Amino acid sequence: MSHAHDKTPNNSAAESARETVEPAPAFTPALRKQIEGFLTRYETKRSAILPALHAIQDELGWIANEHIEILDKEFGLHRVQVREALTFYSAYRQKKPRKHTIQFCNNIVCCMVGANEVIDQIKGHIKKYENQGVEPPFSVEGVPCLCVCDGAPAMLVNKDRHLKVTKENIDSILEKYASLPG
Ligand code: FES
Repeated sequence: MSHAHDKTPNNSAAESARETVEPAPAFTPALRKQIEGFLTRYETKRSAILPALHAIQDELGWIANEHIEILDKEFGLHRVQVREALTFYSAYRQKKPRKHTIQFCNNIVCCMVGANEVIDQIKGHIKKYENQGVEPPFSVEGVPCLCVCDGAPAMLVNKDRHLKVTKENIDSILEKYASLPG
């Protein structure tokens, strides 16, 4: 898991507007059961925080303030400790993700074969959407080694793995995802 510094900042007006209007998704019964399971499995409540956050993100896509409140009030996971975990690990998303989430490896092997240039190209596409006042269909963030260095540069789009991603083939990959439902 990586630290907060890996995150790609994005402060667009479109994103801020989206955050204020989109309600946080509710906990499902299955998610509640999973979290209760963590609470019985670990010796201290605090130890259940990381797996609980993982479970929320897997199920709901992101972790909202409302979710932190539920963890505190209904499951007894102290909100201060939950927030500490959230700010320490960049793997947790605290904003509703866009339709497609791109996680691009920015570790050394991928960078040596052009990862940063491809990431810049993706950011350029995102900027174009924003300049037109349109919500971009994808977000991009740098992540640590995806353990497929033979296929560098590598990225995940949602849960799909793409290898040997270059400035030449990235546009057609993005087009494909932009035309898919979220
Ligand atoms: S360095 Fe990018 S996949 Fe390993």
